[in-house]
Amino acid sequence: MSQPDSEIKFAYWVPNVSGGLVVSNIEQRTDWSYDYNVRLAQAAEESGFEYALTQIRFTAGYNAENQHESVSFSHGILAKTERLKVIAAILPGPWKPALAAKQLATIDHLTNGRIAINVVSGWFRGEFDAIGEEWPEHDQRYARSEEFIRSLKGVWTQDNFSFDGKYYQFKDYTLSPKPLQKPHIEIFQGGSSRAARDMASRVSDWYFTNGNTPEELKKQIDDIREKAKANGHSVKVGVNAFVIARDTEEEAQAVLQEIIDKANAEAVNAFGDATREAGAATAEGEGNWAKSTFEDLVQYNDGFRTNLIGTPLQIAERIVELKRVGVDLILSGFLHFIEEVEYFGENVLPLVRELETQQQRVPAKSA
Ligand SMILES: Cc1cc2nc3c(=O)[nH]c(=O)nc-3n(C[C@H](O)[C@H](O)[C@H](O)COP(=O)(O)O)c2cc1C
Repeated sequence: MSQPDSEIKFAYWVPNVSGGLVVSNIEQRTDWSYDYNVRLAQAAEESGFEYALTQIRFTAGYNAENQHESVSFSHGILAKTERLKVIAAILPGPWKPALAAKQLATIDHLTNGRIAINVVSGWFRGEFDAIGEEWPEHDQRYARSEEFIRSLKGVWTQDNFSFDGKYYQFKDYTLSPKPLQKPHIEIFQGGSSRAARDMASRVSDWYFTNGNTPEELKKQIDDIREKAKANGHSVKVGVNAFVIARDTEEEAQAVLQEIIDKANAEAVNAFGDATREAGAATAEGEGNWAKSTFEDLVQYNDGFRTNLIGTPLQIAERIVELKRVGVDLILSGFLHFIEEVEYFGENVLPLVRELETQQQRVPAKSA
């Protein structure tokens, strides 16, 4: 059963690529195998997680030597779970919208309406070059992704769908059967650049962003929601966080310190170079990792910056603070996935629900 909309939701990163979620030589009791991922998914749905997000990568880079493909892996996880929704990452370019729409509609039927999609616009040119895909410049990649999303929505919701875009064309196409989920399969997207936000404010159901402080997140969220409102659209927001929950704050901080002390500097710097190249390509010369330091980059999507590091109570309070600035979902990563997902479900999540209920009882102050 899905959670009420008044409750903040939880997702976790599926470790379908090797190397864990931090670029560090610290021990990570996390595995990229199918067997481990099935056990993790089952533990996560038991623990109160509503979504799991798979990653799409075609090549190795900074630690991720092996990568399972996201759509087939998502289906594999869905087959072994009952309630969890799995978000499959898809890159326009390698995927065409007709195939993606058909493939996801079938998975939706096979899994009782539990597939979702993360449209990834691509940031790593080396990967596209390696697989012989063309590499449109940054804002063109988003223009293509927007057409991709409009095509998916059209195919999933209309009969005799026609579309005449720059990148994609449909002529009187009727997909049958349509997905079970109505109005359509949920569409997520990531990114922080102007182009990414503008796309979210027009077409995406969910916008994922990198980890950050509540103040910085509020600026992004207000900006997107204001733009979305002007477009007659509404968009929910998920934020990345690397969670280190321990019985004491000292223990949690010591784990963070060890991750950073044992960082694989060569791999982190290679990632930093790739992100700077990606950032320089955005129209405003910034992008997802514009303000990331070396320490931030040890976690791919700035997950330490969200600061869900400490005791269960400290973390629960910070999560409720994130909710207050407009965050709808926490996308979490962990060092030792299965055991920490279970700890989170037992110790942090009940506190979040308690704080949420307390807040609802307090009448809002008049301005
Ligand atoms: C939560 C999240 C998940 C992402 N997943 C992937 C992924 O699986 N594969 C990938 O190549 N890029 C992934 N990205 C990258 C984005 O799609 C986008 O290309 C990147 O954030 C750069 O955006 P920007 O330069 O427009 O801000 C993800 C980003 C976020 C925030």
